[in-house]
Amino acid sequence: MKIIMSIEEMQNSANRLRAAGKKIGFVPTMGFLHQGHLSLLEEAKTRSDIVVMSIYVNPTQFAPNEDFEAYPRDTERDCKLASQHGCDIVFIPESDQIYPEPYLTYVEVEKMTRILCGASRPAHFRGVTTIVAKLFNIVKPQLAVFGQKDYQQALVIQQMTRDLNFDVEIVIAPIVRESDGLAMSSRNSYLSPDERQQALVLNRSLLMAKQEILSGERDAESLKRKIRANIRQKPAAEIDYVEIVDARNLDPVKDIQHNVLIALAAKFGKTRLIDNIIVDVEKLI
Ligand code: PAF
Repeated sequence: MKIIMSIEEMQNSANRLRAAGKKIGFVPTMGFLHQGHLSLLEEAKTRSDIVVMSIYVNPTQFAPNEDFEAYPRDTERDCKLASQHGCDIVFIPESDQIYPEPYLTYVEVEKMTRILCGASRPAHFRGVTTIVAKLFNIVKPQLAVFGQKDYQQALVIQQMTRDLNFDVEIVIAPIVRESDGLAMSSRNSYLSPDERQQALVLNRSLLMAKQEILSGERDAESLKRKIRANIRQKPAAEIDYVEIVDARNLDPVKDIQHNVLIALAAKFGKTRLIDNIIVDVEKLI
């Protein structure tokens, strides 16, 4: 596995690979890899000839009061894991190369970035789409894999890719969970043992909601109330949002009839966690 740190070298390597007819699959990450990231590498491997993973904790997607400085980092371990899971190139750029002074250009997807996580993190998706657009121009992939855990992010990137005519196929890979159901996240490392135990309520509430739909619940407001009540049983939980939206475009849903995304975010202590489930009503019937 090759480690590349310069933008120019990454672009030259990508040009050479494409000229040789290779399909580049790309997995952008902020490092501190867990099984979820490794499953994205494996997904990319099955669909492309060369897998590139980036490791970059992108400052523009963090608000000043968020955890940019504290975000866990362990590049050496990440590189070892990546090489064991089919990665061919790890791209680790320096911040002054990515955002040289003066830096004045941002990419912003409208509407769908104002809801769910965007409501409480108003600048977040602008930072995400800006870095992903830049990485697409540097890594030049034909395909990029994102995790369903950040479903809104994946859909926002799909929209950006369509709107700006990036010639990149966006693949969304399933959520990977711990054996007790907690969705894997680099931020799980912030949780105390008690918070971690209480955080299991997120996945359990989503499974309860799916079961409710299976039993005939079709009223989104009523189902959201049930989910909130379930989460509130845990004293450490502070709900940010519980939403039920159309899984295709994140439009609000009143009547649960088709393919819906049930998405939620909650804080346990200082740690903000997100989770979601997609329920295809037509397949349940
Ligand atoms: O999902 C993440 O880890 C980040 O938002 C991403 C896509 C790597 C952009 O910084």
